[in-house]
Amino acid sequence: MNQDQLKQLVGEAARDEVLKLAAGQIIGVGTGSTVNYFIDALAPHVDHFAGTVSSSNATTERLLKHGFSVLDPNSVSSLPAYVDGADEIDADGNMIKGGGGALTREKIIASMAKQFICICDTSKQVPTLGKFALPVEIIPLAQGVVARKLEKLGGVVTLRLAKNTRLDLEQTPSQPFVTDNGGWILDIAGLVITDPLLLESQINQIAGVISVGLFAQEKASILLVSGTSGVSRIT
Ligand code: 5RP
Repeated sequence: MNQDQLKQLVGEAARDEVLKLAAGQIIGVGTGSTVNYFIDALAPHVDHFAGTVSSSNATTERLLKHGFSVLDPNSVSSLPAYVDGADEIDADGNMIKGGGGALTREKIIASMAKQFICICDTSKQVPTLGKFALPVEIIPLAQGVVARKLEKLGGVVTLRLAKNTRLDLEQTPSQPFVTDNGGWILDIAGLVITDPLLLESQINQIAGVISVGLFAQEKASILLVSGTSGVSRIT
């Protein structure tokens, strides 16, 4: 099986997981290629849910295309489950997220949910977080000062640049990547994250940081992970 097939497999397993919820509930939906498989697998069951809360403009677009109702998070008081992918996950359920740049809204929706169902393939499982560069969303005018403070944590900090994709033809590669919130992203490479909770709290305290893609306070409560022998469920 290739990685896309593994993503599809775990997306379908997440569909089965959320269909165990009583009908008429609202679910939170993350962002990324694995989640896209989940959304597509869930589409025939749109009537099972009262609606969704979305973590990005890209996810909202996909949900609406399939006929899901997408609700304003401010109108939602109870969210039984949030389904999202990860760039890295350790054995305790701590994650690095934000490879797709949606970390802030992902963290907000995760904080609303009773359960965080993380979906990934085995390539995302690591003994220690940090090989994947840690994304930090920032207020653009604070780029210089925040980058200098983040460098003191021991990694190499770079400003994420816009990709010159078809959707983004107006931007040259030297322009910063801009998040759905109008923020920029600094990626910290070369960290060895032995205490994710502490590092998350340290980075959160830097003025100019919107959020960090370290999910230790909002870690996964259920992990569905696909590999060559199928999908395992870890709680
Ligand atoms: C986006 C994310 C994604 O969940 C993460 O990047 C994993 O993406 P993919 O499923 O495409 O590998 O955090 O901000």
